[in-house]
Amino acid sequence: MIDSGTLVLFGAKGNLARVKLIPGLFHLDACGKLPPAMKILSVGRQEVSDDAWVAEIKDMLEKKFKGNYDQLVFDRFIKRNIYHCNLPDDPDAFKKFALKLNDDKKFTKNFAFFLSVRPSDFALIVDQLAEQNLLDESQGGYRRVLIEKPFGTDLETAIELQTSIEKHLKESQIYRIDHYLGKTALQNILITRFGNSIFEPLWNNQYIDHIQITNHEQLGAGDRTTFYDATGALRDMIQSHLLQMLALTTMNRPKSFSPDAIREEKIKVLESIKAIPSASFDDFTFRAQYKSGKIDGENVPGYLEELERDGLSPSSVTETYAAIKLFIDNEKWKGVPIYLRTAKRLHEAGTYISIKFKNENSIIKNSNANWLIMSIQPKETTHFEIQTKIPGLNDFDFRTSNLECFNRLDGDESIDAYETLMLDLMSGNQSRFLHINEVKAQWKLIDPIIAHWMKNKTPVVQYPAGSCDPIESKIIFENNEQFWRKSLHE
Ligand code: BG6
Repeated sequence: MIDSGTLVLFGAKGNLARVKLIPGLFHLDACGKLPPAMKILSVGRQEVSDDAWVAEIKDMLEKKFKGNYDQLVFDRFIKRNIYHCNLPDDPDAFKKFALKLNDDKKFTKNFAFFLSVRPSDFALIVDQLAEQNLLDESQGGYRRVLIEKPFGTDLETAIELQTSIEKHLKESQIYRIDHYLGKTALQNILITRFGNSIFEPLWNNQYIDHIQITNHEQLGAGDRTTFYDATGALRDMIQSHLLQMLALTTMNRPKSFSPDAIREEKIKVLESIKAIPSASFDDFTFRAQYKSGKIDGENVPGYLEELERDGLSPSSVTETYAAIKLFIDNEKWKGVPIYLRTAKRLHEAGTYISIKFKNENSIIKNSNANWLIMSIQPKETTHFEIQTKIPGLNDFDFRTSNLECFNRLDGDESIDAYETLMLDLMSGNQSRFLHINEVKAQWKLIDPIIAHWMKNKTPVVQYPAGSCDPIESKIIFENNEQFWRKSLHE
């Protein structure tokens, strides 16, 4: 079990805290993962009485668990929870906050600060915590700061944020989140690769034709249009989650499975990805936007209509579909294209990594053959497509059979990504958090694409909501044999 400490949640009245963090902490408590003396200090900008805070927590838990929880656990959870109001216009707000936190009778000296606030407030809060001497570990106890996504909006702002917070924090105190790293299925990539000796000898350019990393959602921009229109699919998903999946899929075997060794190999591979040649942007990248269509039989509006509804410019060229091709510049991966694609409002929701093995060594010349798919969600499976003979007199009649390995079984522990990451934060395990060099390498790859796209203001390709990948996205394939997988099984 983790050491007793205090988890301080800045942004406790925000959506993430209400939907994921507080219900997640409750679930961890119910599973017996939180030490008895651990406290949760929720910090918000509004005044809330103790009773009102209890009622708010109850409401969050009702929404999540629909009354399906134990009253004794609820009472225990409530005793751990304290709300503190940091009034935005009070110059002494952080002094009062520090006075409360330094009360030894209530809180132990281990503090983990979870900053689930506007990105523009990250550096300000770290400065204030430092000014109140709340980040200094030399007097005993840990002091850790978790920074929500995004860490900067490009390389320059990421470096600015880093320069500001490193005045007060060592790298070992900074937990940069990418919630995909908290998903069990992502951790399973390393287990699949390094726990089964059959894969690694084949995991290179001699045997692999190409890799596809896919994230499709049926959801649209919804009520996040302002955020989404300033961000776009490339920044929102590829810069973070998909590049992390790429790193786990292609990194070399780490010297050990310690957090530092894993991150060292991820950094190496991310830094070896070649920048897209400036003359080739239009062959290596593709963007599109969803127009109105049907999702599960229901009519849904197009992206530009949603922008107009929310008073934003309907001539936006922000992409809701992004696909790019990358190459890794090392011996192992030279010449293997890695395709990353992400979209809102596609025909289905699915996140999976598809490895296409070369056909050259096979007697069956079928471009559909030889796929291994690691599915992250909604199914957690490892799926191998095998060519098998159709029983009968024809010697070479074959078909594709599926070997499907279900990585989650009934009764397996179900811990949400944020729950895992909060436990890691409290126990000091940084392996599922980003090192600053990963963040920098990721922005370095993405910034030039965004700059190129920003220059071109002509309307982008539109795809109907609920459809498959726009046909024009094929432009990024190296040859005609390559095609997007439609789903996990096709
Ligand atoms: C977030 C993005 O980081 O990840 C969202 O901002 C996206 O746009 C979400 O929907 C997807 O996360 P998950 O865990 O639902 O796949």
